[in-house]
Amino acid sequence: MQGIEKYSGSLQNYLDEVITLKEPIRLYEPIKYIVSLGGKRLRPVLTLLSCDMFNSDYKNALPAALALELFHNFSLIHDDIMDEAPLRRGKETVHQKWNLNTGILSGDAMLILAYQLFEEYEPTMFRDLAKLFSKTALQVCEGQQYDVDFETKTDVTISDYIKMIDYKTAVLLGASMKMGAIVANASEDCKTNSYDFGRNLGIAFQLQDDYLDCFGNPETFGKQIGGDIIANKKTFLYIKAFQNSSDSEKIYLEKLFSEKPKDPTEKIKVVLDIYNKSGATQETLKEILRYTQKANKVLNKLDISDKNREILLSFGEKLMNRNV
Ligand code: IPE
Ligand code: IPE
Ligand code: MG
Ligand code: MG
Ligand code: MG
Repeated sequence: MQGIEKYSGSLQNYLDEVITLKEPIRLYEPIKYIVSLGGKRLRPVLTLLSCDMFNSDYKNALPAALALELFHNFSLIHDDIMDEAPLRRGKETVHQKWNLNTGILSGDAMLILAYQLFEEYEPTMFRDLAKLFSKTALQVCEGQQYDVDFETKTDVTISDYIKMIDYKTAVLLGASMKMGAIVANASEDCKTNSYDFGRNLGIAFQLQDDYLDCFGNPETFGKQIGGDIIANKKTFLYIKAFQNSSDSEKIYLEKLFSEKPKDPTEKIKVVLDIYNKSGATQETLKEILRYTQKANKVLNKLDISDKNREILLSFGEKLMNRNV
């Protein structure tokens, strides 16, 4: 995947320029901390790639790309508070390392820094980007609220779940692609199709995240394995396992997911076993493939070179086989 590194390199340089340590240190240090831990930088890379593919200098998309990465990192800090997560990118989460208030305020500041970056664009483009950003950010909040609501809801359906992950995760990947197209002044068709590509990939991506939360390698995943089971998250795995269960098994699963034991080791072990034996694990892997293929189908509608189509295809392929 030659070429993608150049985007990460440019982004890193730009990030170092924009995110500096200053007073009050307690506000900016956690920001520097979380962004320095890196992560995959998926969203900004998609933006730069997309801008490049639609024949514009990808550097023009750097402010939008960084805005998306800052927003994403802000959402991670607040998400870790909401999910009571101890680990992020293999290190302590912000609220754990500092405290809750630090996580809240540094997160808020990151959201504002993200908005500020759109000021780099001229009025018309600024309006288009800010409009997409606001709409998307609000959807992410809605998705996050559904995610939390579902922890204590017992009748979550597959379509409820898909809507939830579409909002909390997929629309941001869609917006990442579309922002590249906006900066490149691409056609309306290109904007729409690039958004749809990112969004379908985003659904596959969150399904995969839920899978890795259960079956990932703790050495590489960087997050607490079993976190979703501990928090009683109604993932695709849970809903499928429930659907595939007998009446008595359903009662058992429901009971397991109404409790938060002090030591969750046994609960995690039992639930993973149920996911595997019920076929839910296999169905999840199939669904990841299905949404990746759906994304790939949209690619055929995109007015880009075959070489670039190939780059996007292998991007999706790589995501599907990730362990981070
Ligand atoms: C984590 O996103 C949150 C989800 C939407 C699943 P990433 O897996 O992209 O996190 P980083 O940025 O690479 O750490
Ligand atoms: C997070 O979903 C989505 C957002 C941060 C908006 P998760 O809660 O599954 O993400 P991780 O697993 O903590 O990264
Ligand atoms: Mg989380
Ligand atoms: Mg969450
Ligand atoms: Mg997760």
